[in-house]
Amino acid sequence: MEEYLDRILLSEDQIKKRVAQLGAQITEEYQGKDLLVIGILKGAVPFLADLIREIKLPLRYDFMAVSSYGASAKSSGEVRILKDLDSSIEDRHIIIVEDIVDTGLTLKYLQENLGRRKPLSMKIAALLDKPGRRRTEVYPNYNCFVIPDEFVVGYGLDYNEAYRNLPYIGALKPEVYTEQD
Ligand code: XMP
Ligand code: MG
Repeated sequence: MEEYLDRILLSEDQIKKRVAQLGAQITEEYQGKDLLVIGILKGAVPFLADLIREIKLPLRYDFMAVSSYGASAKSSGEVRILKDLDSSIEDRHIIIVEDIVDTGLTLKYLQENLGRRKPLSMKIAALLDKPGRRRTEVYPNYNCFVIPDEFVVGYGLDYNEAYRNLPYIGALKPEVYTEQD
């Protein structure tokens, strides 16, 4: 294990198996439907890339970027659109793909914003759910893993934009934060 990690929470193999299961479930539920998968940059990229290849349907995907924590490990609660979708979602079945639902503030904002654009249906798929820190009534329709209230990195998740490329999910050693803050 890398020296900056405290422990590995979810191995590459665990993630792969769970994402395959979720892909199979979505494949079943969206039979005959025109599906648009919306990835929230940048954290959702590895999850989206793996998930869409487990969905055996002719889907499309698009991306949105919203402001989140910046360089800090704490949520500001403010959400801003940095990059919007390329096309309309009116009358489309959409699945919003997020890396993690923490306070839920980002997803609440996205649900309201995208909901106003009149999609035919809207669901949320989150790789991780950290319900211990929820500040709104937003829960993912599809979730791979529930995790404790701990800051995690890897498989898209970052600290200060680093560690996104780790193929597994781990918790950083506390001294990694304190060194940089
Ligand atoms: P909220 O609080 O709005 O947060 O649900 C969603 C966004 O916060 C980031 N986030 C994390 N990023 N490790 C990270 O690398 C974490 O443990 C963590 N918790 C929240 C993430 O960008 C997510 O999209
Ligand atoms: Mg993020």
